[in-house]
Amino acid sequence: MSAWIDVASLDDFAASDAIAVAAAGREIAIYLVEGEVFATANRCTHGDAQLCEGFLEGHEIECPFHQGRFDVRTGAALCAPATVALATYPARIESGRIELRID
Ligand code: FES
Repeated sequence: MSAWIDVASLDDFAASDAIAVAAAGREIAIYLVEGEVFATANRCTHGDAQLCEGFLEGHEIECPFHQGRFDVRTGAALCAPATVALATYPARIESGRIELRID
C-alpha cells in the first residue's frame, strides 16, 4: 500500500476550484467540490487538453477543448467526444493540506 503524498495546500484553490500538480511523475488535476477533494489525470483522454483549465460544475469537469465531460469521483467519461475514463487517485484534506495516494 502506497503512502499519502502531500501535494498542495487548500489555499491553492483560492483562485480556482481545479488545480494541477505534478506528483510521482504524473500530471494530476485536483478538484474541490463542496469541501471535498477529488483527483484525476490532468490530461483529457480525448486530446491534449488540461482538465484543470476546464469548467467544473458539481462533480463534472468539462474539457476546455471539445466539451467532453468526466465525473471527477470515478473518472467516467460522461459524454462525447470523451469515451475513455480518466485515471483517478485517492485524495484527502489533512490539516489544510491536500494529500494523494498514487500507486
Ligand atoms: Fe478533451 Fe477533446 S480534448 S474532449
